[in-house]
Amino acid sequence: MDLTITGYSSKDRDAVQLVLAQLGWTANQMDGQMASIERFSSAPRDRVYVAWANNRLAGYISVELHLWNNLAQIQGLAVDPSLRRRKIGAKLVGTVEEYVRENRVRGLYVDTPVNNVGGREFYERLGYQQDYVMTEYYDVGLDGVTYLKLFK
Ligand SMILES: CC(C)(COP(=O)(O)OP(=O)(O)OC[C@H]1O[C@@H](n2cnc3c(N)ncnc32)[C@H](O)[C@@H]1OP(=O)(O)O)[C@@H](O)C(=O)NCCC(=O)NCCS
Repeated sequence: MDLTITGYSSKDRDAVQLVLAQLGWTANQMDGQMASIERFSSAPRDRVYVAWANNRLAGYISVELHLWNNLAQIQGLAVDPSLRRRKIGAKLVGTVEEYVRENRVRGLYVDTPVNNVGGREFYERLGYQQDYVMTEYYDVGLDGVTYLKLFK
């Protein structure tokens, strides 16, 4: 598989939306994520990257840099379900880690629903440690869990 990672541009919007549509999200969640992608791709320090597998959009990641504490936050990450377990997610996170480390950021964290078992295993595999659980962060009865990696 020929995999390349590029910066997001608004011409990628429909293709990203197609990947998100396969996650079973509500319209509100989709709209919120698309709005944040536009925001983070046009902010000076934040970034959105897209992965291309054989010239087809295979996934994306967005990251926000928090100036006040010099930490960065993954704000969105998804890989096309038909292209999973091929290290596309790992390469997207690796691209973000490289970018934030170049910017002397101290570490990277991400929130995910507690019931996202695959996503949690993924972050643990990449060296992220479970930090805290936020009660009902996502919805009534659905807690969020934060994973953190502090850079050496
Ligand atoms: C989480 C996600 C981004 C992983 O993308 P991916 O490209 O399939 O992941 P990779 O192939 O890079 O996985 C690297 C390693 O993480 C672990 N991993 C990944 N997905 C896993 C799963 N569903 N279950 C258990 N372990 C998993 C494995 O150790 C894997 O290595 P291996 O395949 O050699 O065993 C993808 O499943 C996804 O888009 N999920 C829906 C959205 C989401 O959960 N986003 C992240 C939370 S915000």
